[in-house]
Amino acid sequence: MRPEHPIVLITGASSGFGEATARLLASRGCHLALGARRVERVKTLAAELEKTYGIRTFAGLVDTRNTDLMEGFVRDAVEALGGLHVVVANAGLARGMDKLDSVLEEDWQAMMHTNVEGVIRTLKATLPHLRHAGWGHIFFIGSTAGHQVYEGGGAYCASKHAVRALVQTLRLELCGEPIRVTSVDPGMVETEFSLVRFRDENRAKNIYQGMTPLTGADIAECIRWALELPDHVDIDEMIVKPRDQASYTGAKVNRKS
Ligand SMILES: NC(=O)c1ccc[n+]([C@@H]2O[C@H](COP(=O)([O-])OP(=O)(O)OC[C@H]3O[C@@H](n4cnc5c(N)ncnc54)[C@H](OP(=O)(O)O)[C@@H]3O)[C@@H](O)[C@H]2O)c1
Repeated sequence: MRPEHPIVLITGASSGFGEATARLLASRGCHLALGARRVERVKTLAAELEKTYGIRTFAGLVDTRNTDLMEGFVRDAVEALGGLHVVVANAGLARGMDKLDSVLEEDWQAMMHTNVEGVIRTLKATLPHLRHAGWGHIFFIGSTAGHQVYEGGGAYCASKHAVRALVQTLRLELCGEPIRVTSVDPGMVETEFSLVRFRDENRAKNIYQGMTPLTGADIAECIRWALELPDHVDIDEMIVKPRDQASYTGAKVNRKS
């Protein structure tokens, strides 16, 4: 049975899509468990949303690369909020644009550990609680980089192709259970993503120069829409790009000079 006020857990809620999704779902009356490494940020956000919307929240430290932290975060969230219905496995990152012959060990490891292993860890820690609740929805944040590749994006694209394989497998494995599975696969969205990737504010800004990228709020709206559809409807995969971005990669982007 669909709960009137679903309890939603979001990883990577300290910025970007995660924060925007928390804001939108709070406005729809969802209770929220918010996690990230920058725990002060999620605590501040949770307090603000609790006050504004009268929802219940839990905010905690989670590093999705660490099994103990992941399991502890989910356990504490479920205890505090009384269950779990919806998961947004959002935490992820890109590091650098080096070609494969020179990609830094620390960069490809960060992407694989966070984007691939972190997603499996999130799923394994949360799925038993969705099964226990008897109604659930799991959102994954893939990318257009999970559909096509580009030079300098080898490790990031590989990690997002892996996410796509995981989502498609899970969809098969959960068929017959009352748990929906959705992958939201965005193109260019202006968040802290490019800043984390390049560690350089000017380079990050240049990515969106002269074009209108998506915002975190646009992605949050995709999640809200898929979540609020009737139970028999599963949006398996959503590819969402700015109007100015025609290609899956940055190859065809309309920029005003
Ligand atoms: N922006 C884009 O153009 C774009 C396009 C397609 C897909 N995506 C994907 O969308 C997702 C969200 O990215 P975003 O654009 O919102 O970027 P963002 O603003 O940098 O947000 C990333 C979030 O992930 C969290 N995170 C990173 N590593 C983590 C870890 N090990 N454990 C827990 N949390 C971690 C960060 O929090 P802390 O640093 O506080 O831990 C942050 O809250 C990522 O999976 C990304 O690959 C982004």
